[in-house]
Amino acid sequence: MKLITTAIDYTNGAPHIGHAYEKVLADVLTRYERFAGREVYFLTGVDQHGQKVQQNAEKEGVHPATYSNRVTKGFIKLWDKLDVKYDGWASTTDQRHITCVQAILQKLYDDGQLYKESHKGFYSIRQEQFLTDRDRNDEGEFGPEWGEVEEVEEENWYFKLSDHIEWLRNHVETHPDFVFPQFRRQELLNALERSDKGDLCISRPKSRLRWGIELPFDTDFVTYVWFDALTNYISFAGYQAAENADLPVFEKLWSNTTHIIGKDILVPPHGIYWPIMLHAIGFSDDDMPRLLVHGWWNIRGEKMSKSLGNVVDPDQLADTFGADGLRYYLMRDISTGGDSDFSPERIIMRFNSDLANDFGNLANRTLNMTKRYRGGVLNCGDYDDELCLDVRQVAEQTRKDYTDAMNGDLPHLALEHVWKLIVRANKFVEQTAPFTLAKEESESAKLDAVLYHLVEVIAEVSLLIAPVMPQAAANLQDQLRLTPEQRTTLLSDMAWGLLPTGHETGKPKPLFPRLQLEEETEG
Ligand code: MSP
Repeated sequence: MKLITTAIDYTNGAPHIGHAYEKVLADVLTRYERFAGREVYFLTGVDQHGQKVQQNAEKEGVHPATYSNRVTKGFIKLWDKLDVKYDGWASTTDQRHITCVQAILQKLYDDGQLYKESHKGFYSIRQEQFLTDRDRNDEGEFGPEWGEVEEVEEENWYFKLSDHIEWLRNHVETHPDFVFPQFRRQELLNALERSDKGDLCISRPKSRLRWGIELPFDTDFVTYVWFDALTNYISFAGYQAAENADLPVFEKLWSNTTHIIGKDILVPPHGIYWPIMLHAIGFSDDDMPRLLVHGWWNIRGEKMSKSLGNVVDPDQLADTFGADGLRYYLMRDISTGGDSDFSPERIIMRFNSDLANDFGNLANRTLNMTKRYRGGVLNCGDYDDELCLDVRQVAEQTRKDYTDAMNGDLPHLALEHVWKLIVRANKFVEQTAPFTLAKEESESAKLDAVLYHLVEVIAEVSLLIAPVMPQAAANLQDQLRLTPEQRTTLLSDMAWGLLPTGHETGKPKPLFPRLQLEEETEG
């Protein structure tokens, strides 16, 4: 079994396009695993504790739980709308998670991995961490990215991170697959080179932060939000869970785990803290997860932020482009690992040109012609020629290229390959001109073959795009009248000839009606 997780989203504000990208990516890779015939479990959720949630709740005069639960509902509603189908939901206020975090803290304490110390320094409220001189900018100041910074002196609990840094460096060096893409692994190695070998402050005094998980051995403190949040990956996978906890069996789930995260949370949380936490509680090298680090969606090269007022709302986009339209754009216009610029012009362009024109038209005219010329009934017949052969070869190559791309976590490339087949099939229509063939009785066998090839291509495409556009795939499969067995064909069983002679296609209906939005969205 494979476990795929995403980062759990902070519940201190509404979800934006970056959150949506990560969830859709995880959902697409999960659906792909199933299509490839492999067992998979998809875990996602929300990070509900921490100072920002406490502050926002205070501003509204409500309890942090009330605030956080309200924001959580917004995330759940959006994932529903975007067809993000997870198997497990992690919410850090869940008692099963709290029990697991406290058990881990207690174990580290019992093992002598934690110590208490007083520390005076500058603390960033936004990032919820102490800063060092290295965090100062060229002017010697703490830049705006740190938000409000205050000087504090307080006692806290520290985790002996430094004891494990050498182990981690060795692990990253000897496990090339630990981080994908490779340049991010290098970034982690560089960070480990520079590491000041400091320990990790894992507590916050309750006088400053109440909204967190209490340390079981010192109740004046709650634990640092990252220590709490990272643990979700194992607590909700059933790590040391009670038998009646209604969680998966950990041993079945953990051996092949991929954490999908954004580039901002590789160093230090996922690249340093998390493997070290696992190592310290006894996970072996073979039990270390893999990190799939994606890039960021920016707006005209700039970071999205509430203060810049350039936050893109995925909910509105889904209203305009449909869940599938948005999912397609998010998967097609970024290459996994790299950054991309969100632009309204590009999403419209992708929708109209790739979905409405290339794919939608191919599907619609294929089904229309089959209905008009053959009453919807397919006949693969004996006719063959070079053009038909070429279409079959492109279809076969597409299956191979698609498989390689998806196995490499590169949905944008997989889609690019599928579109080569779509473009080839559209050209095939121009080359064979079925509308002319239909006029000549003597071309009847050729027309049968042409229609068969076209229908077979769109049936194959419906299977290949299903992980990215589940609704459009199902809609097209309804129009094609695929049987339940045909719809659930595994990738490895796909071969030319999915549809037999005599198969009858249904009524065509446009999949992606063209959008006329340029004037409303430009500028
Ligand atoms: N709560 C932490 C993660 C804890 S995981 C144990 C967190 N939350 S977040 O809400 O700020 O971010 C959630 C995810 O969204 C992160 O992986 C982050 O990288 C990703 N993104 C946030 N903004 C993004 C973009 N603009 N583009 C793409 N993904 C981005 O960090």
